[in-house]
Amino acid sequence: MKRIGVYTSGGDAPGMNAAIRAVARTAAGLGVEVVGIRRGYAGMIEGEFEPLGPRDVANIIQRGGTILLTARSKAFLTEEGRAKAAGKLKEAGIEGLVAIGGDGTFRGALKLIEEHRIPVVGVPGTIDNDLYGTDYTIGFDTAVNTALDAIDRIRDTAASHERVFFIEVMGRHAGFIALEVGIAGGAEIIALPEVPTSPQEIAETITASFKKGKRSSIIVVAEGAYPGGAQALFKAVHGLTGFEARVTVLGHIQRGGSPTAKDRVLASRLGAAATRTLVEGTSGVMIGEVEGEVTLTPLSEAVTKKKPIRLELVDLAKELAG
Ligand code: F6P
Repeated sequence: MKRIGVYTSGGDAPGMNAAIRAVARTAAGLGVEVVGIRRGYAGMIEGEFEPLGPRDVANIIQRGGTILLTARSKAFLTEEGRAKAAGKLKEAGIEGLVAIGGDGTFRGALKLIEEHRIPVVGVPGTIDNDLYGTDYTIGFDTAVNTALDAIDRIRDTAASHERVFFIEVMGRHAGFIALEVGIAGGAEIIALPEVPTSPQEIAETITASFKKGKRSSIIVVAEGAYPGGAQALFKAVHGLTGFEARVTVLGHIQRGGSPTAKDRVLASRLGAAATRTLVEGTSGVMIGEVEGEVTLTPLSEAVTKKKPIRLELVDLAKELAG
């Protein structure tokens, strides 16, 4: 291969820039040109391409977001849109792609491979950590630490006012962020999509904790844990008990900010491995890290197989909530 493209797509994640840098620099070392594709699949359709040499990625390792910009493209969901994108890639002499993103990004990549035989290697970049084939996705660690910082602050005011707080964290249909941040933040209750927690159960747990002498509580709610999120869950608990509480939705602050060292190292490692894998002629795989080793998982499995949450951590959280 003489020229490859790299793009970020779907929700941005801290560490994506470190992955882009790793792609550009590894490819340069292999004597392969890199083209940066702007705005993910939307920009691919429009031919928004720019050269990405080793100097173009200087001073981005510490930056959140993605210098290539990102989008969720509706046009790419159509055959015509994908054919247009494939045409633009061929015109530009792009022979293979490194796709950085989550499951939507990889579903798009699979279509490009199937319909247009364009080789693609995936790099898992999403704060949700919901991809099978890697212990951690790029951006997860930063998002957890950002949410944790917010929860620590909320705990100060919760303790001072002797209040209960419902704090909603991101994660779409998965509870990885909630579980990790809930344990690290000492949450009294963690509501996860994978382990349904009813309003009744929450009401009973809060009542029991008041009886034990607790005067404030933090309830971490994964956005996918209850229809309508933390606000709706609070209303349901309030309807049962009349408890007062405050609700905080952390939202997109979890997606921004400078990546942690862990995310930068992961992104560098996976971006470099993806580039080597693609240039050596392998396609249709996601590069991940499992138990410290770089691994290859078919993209089809990465998007269809469900990564389980660790139930022993759910039990640990309950045990330590005291
Ligand atoms: O997939 C990342 C994520 O931040 C999810 O946690 C969240 O559900 C979703 O994206 C929000 O998407 P948007 O930024 O389009 O509102």
